[in-house]
Amino acid sequence: MTQPTRLLATVAVCLLAATPWITVNAAPSCPSTLPSSCLCESTTSGRLAVSCDGAPLNTIFKELGSAPIERLYVGNCSQPVLDRLPQGPVRSLQITNCSIKEVKSEVSSATW
Ligand SMILES: *[C@@H]1O[C@H](CO)[C@@H](O)[C@H](O)[C@H]1NC(C)=O
Ligand SMILES: *[C@@H]1O[C@H](CO)[C@@H](O)[C@H](O)[C@H]1NC(C)=O
Repeated sequence: MTQPTRLLATVAVCLLAATPWITVNAAPSCPSTLPSSCLCESTTSGRLAVSCDGAPLNTIFKELGSAPIERLYVGNCSQPVLDRLPQGPVRSLQITNCSIKEVKSEVSSATW
């Protein structure tokens, strides 16, 4: 590639990156109703990344609705029985220190 051609290519890539209609505009936004101990952001992949400390699982799952989730971390909650999961697709789910004693068999089919 000659020097001017490479420069042109670089400019073209920058233009593409700056063009708003190229981006996925179906990206979900963070629900404002999430518990206040939750941190939430919209990732470049158009999914949500959520991290919560001590918030009830079912409240979090319900507020997230069917939004696609990149990762969801919940720690320090109190949830002896796990009977539901988020409704939307989830790439990574981590539940830590929530005293889960039982996972119900209907966990994957329960709906809100
Ligand atoms: C859980 O609580 C511990 C101790 O208070 C804290 O260090 C940790 O960051 C908490 N976990 C989450 C996911 O917030
Ligand atoms: C687990 O949660 C309890 C409160 O529910 C907290 O005191 C403790 O530090 C947490 N442990 C870890 C490892 O996060």
